Formats: sequence, structure tokens, C-alpha cells
Amino acid sequence: MSDIKTRLQKKFMELFGPGAMPKAYFAPGRVNLIGEHTDYNGGHVFPCALTIGTYGLIRPRTDRVLRFCSLNFQKGAIVESSLDDLIPDAKAGWANYPKGVIWTFRRRGYQLAHGADILIYGDIPAGSGLSSSASLEVLTGLMLRETYGFDISMTDLALIGQYSENHFNGMNCGIMDQFASAMGRKDCAIFLDTSDLSYEYAPVKLPDAKIVITNSKVKHNLVSSAYNDRRRESETALRDLQTVVDIRTLGDLTEAQFEQYKYAIKDSVCRRRARHAVYENQRTIHAVEALKKNDIVTFGKLINASHISLRNDYETSCPENDLLAELAWKTPACLGSRITGGGFGGCNVSIVKTNGIESFIEALDRPYAEKTGISAEFYVVDIGDGAHALD
Ligand code: GLA
Repeated sequence: MSDIKTRLQKKFMELFGPGAMPKAYFAPGRVNLIGEHTDYNGGHVFPCALTIGTYGLIRPRTDRVLRFCSLNFQKGAIVESSLDDLIPDAKAGWANYPKGVIWTFRRRGYQLAHGADILIYGDIPAGSGLSSSASLEVLTGLMLRETYGFDISMTDLALIGQYSENHFNGMNCGIMDQFASAMGRKDCAIFLDTSDLSYEYAPVKLPDAKIVITNSKVKHNLVSSAYNDRRRESETALRDLQTVVDIRTLGDLTEAQFEQYKYAIKDSVCRRRARHAVYENQRTIHAVEALKKNDIVTFGKLINASHISLRNDYETSCPENDLLAELAWKTPACLGSRITGGGFGGCNVSIVKTNGIESFIEALDRPYAEKTGISAEFYVVDIGDGAHALD
């Protein structure tokens, strides 16, 4: 970690010129174990922070200029903006994320007295669905809080990140990704109730097993518009249900209640979307119970069921991620496997017996490449802490 910090500090000085040493921060990406597309439906999620994520260095300026540079995008070009010019701008590209967070701070009354130079570097594979944007938002929030001395909780930093993504960047995401990045804890997943943001850390002790992420390396077009469509369809289903039953969100329903009242949902597509949201929420609750009892077999079966529901009812999977899941299910070392995150490509998450990881990778790698012409990537991951300063 300190190695990276030293390298980035050197780079910072080269790019932005000599002066005070910039402070360094880190915010992780996340993988969601179960509870997909439930976070904007008042349900539960079960994500964990990764040890990969986004690093940021910041040095305040004396004027109102903001200068951003990412070592990952736009060939390290400096994107310039100003505290008086915070509007989304296609030319700013990736820098619209930190700009959106600064804009949200200001809307909430946290005025930045002066600008800053900011250097960003991330080690989350691009477009993999492991929340690089949420980590950048939470990182920006943390850097601002620390640099300008604002009194804001980590949960509020997550909410600010979500607000800026919804209102500045046009992606109507829920709270899961930012919450996991801000609040993650080493070796634990977060059992979060998105209806009131109450949460509990659940240790992920997987005796003789590991979390393996498989990147399908596909990202289908229109991800954010398809995501926003799913959200609208769920809301339509909720409104129909509210004509016959007194609920606030889809997360308020048990499976039996859903079966009793589903007739009220007029459109069959919306009915399937709601079925996913209700059943997935209950699966998540059961999965956490199973994990607490060290019943990894049940935990894995619920993970598989989650994929099937995302594939058939919520339709946020795609042929490539379906293929990876099917290959994984056939592998004896695999206890459970499903698409994770927003979907339409990106990564699958699997629980794999430690002594079978090699055979698991072999069983997926070649058949996937033969069928799709794409070479998947595999990461055996550790669960890390939420966003923090690098000392
Ligand atoms: C994306 C969103 C999250 C969540 C997931 C699906 O990652 O940012 O809020 O809705 O999709 O579970």
C-alpha cells in the first residue's frame, strides 16, 4: 500500500508541480454475494468490499480551480474545471464523477472555500461491474471531508455518492455500491436492509473455500438505460400492488404474500420483475442465516437460484454470463455461482472449494473462449476494509 502511495505522490508532483505533499486515500470496489436489484426495492443486499479499488491524492489550491487527472483514462490528461462551473460535461468524461460529488456537497451546504488538484488511480478492471464508479464517488467524498474538515458520517458519504450518480450522472442506482465502498469491513460482508439502512457485519468464514470472480469481459450497450427501465418496471409493479395491499416497498412482501396479491400487477413483465425482487430479498435473508450456521451448501444453492431469477425474471443476465454460470454449476468444486452487480455483462461471483480452484478455472476458461471468442479473467479475491486514508 505505502509503495503505491509513494509512486502516486511522485507522479502527482510531476503532473501538478512542486508544493505541499498531497494526502492519499483509498476506496474499495465491491462484490455482491447475493441480493441483486433489491436495493432500490426496499430489500436486503449482502455485498463486501474488495481489496482492489480507487486511490486518490488531493492537494488544496488557493484559487477556485479544480484539476483532475486519472492515470487510467484520457492518457493521464488533466481535466480542468472550476467550483463555479459544476455541470455535467461529456468532455470531462470520468471526471464527471468527482465533479458530481463536489456539486452534491455544495447542494447540501458544504461549501468548498477553494479548489484542489486531484490525482486518481484505480486497479478495478474497467467495465467489470465491481463498482469502480461508486468507489470513485466515495473516495472523492472522503477526500473532501478530510481536506475541508466537514463533519459527515461514512453513511452520508455513501448517500452523497448515490445522489450524485443519480442526479449528476443520470444512473438511477440504489445505495448498495457506495455503502459497501464506504462501510466495508475486512473479512465481512454487510447485511444491509435498504429500507432503513440498518446493517450488520457478517463474517465470511468459508472453510476450505474462496470467493472467485469471473469477468466475462462483455458489457452490453445501454446498461444504464436498461437498468433505469428495470427500476421503472419494479415501481409500476409496486404501484399496482399498493391498490390491494398496504406496503411501502416490494421488500415488505413475503413470497406467500406476493403469490396472494400478484394478480394486481397488470403487466406480465412487471409481474416477473416484482417476483424477482420479492424472492431475491427472501433468498438474501435465508442466505445470511445459512452462512451464520456455516451451512455453505445452502448458501451456494441460494446463490444459484439468484442467477436463475436474474436470468429468467429480471432479465439482467446475458448469454456470456449465463454460459459462465452453467459451466461453473457443472464443476464439482463450485458451491454456488451467479452474475453479480448491475448485470448485462460484467462479472460472476462463485464460491469455490480452495483445492478445486485450478480445476474450476480450467473448466470455465477454454469452453468459454471456444464459444464466445473471449478470454475470461479470474480473480480469487479477499474482502477488505471500507474507504480510508493511507498513512
Ligand atoms: C448496480 C447499482 C446498485 C444495485 C446493483 C444491482 O450495481 O449501482 O445500486 O442496484 O446494480 O443489485
